[in-house]
Amino acid sequence: MNTPSAWHELPNAPPAGTVLGWVDRVEDGQALMHTVYREADSAQSQPFGVLLLRSGTQVKAFANRCAHFGVPLAARQELLKFQPHISITCNVHYARYRWSDGVCDRGDCEGESLIPIPVAQDANGCIRIA
Ligand code: FES
Repeated sequence: MNTPSAWHELPNAPPAGTVLGWVDRVEDGQALMHTVYREADSAQSQPFGVLLLRSGTQVKAFANRCAHFGVPLAARQELLKFQPHISITCNVHYARYRWSDGVCDRGDCEGESLIPIPVAQDANGCIRIA
């Protein structure tokens, strides 16, 4: 599969500065599926799925796109499999990705990676694409 190497190469990728969420809405140790849109009017643009992984006060973001088949890791939040602070697992063929860096350490795409999205947090806990 031809894997995009950067989040901004993905279809429907929103621009830098887009708000991805707020730290206080992600529990410590939670992997949260979230959807953002390029345009302010969501009816006018296609969704872009992200994964927000919180450890302590830090939240990292990855595109919600399995490196194996390029599909979301889960169809909805209740189906998302993760071990807090350790790993997150695609529920299609169960590729497991390290929490720390998004690299697949077990499964059909071992050695490949979730695509990281650089983020910055402001003093109010707002998480934006950097
Ligand atoms: S699509 Fe995710 S492991 Fe196959």
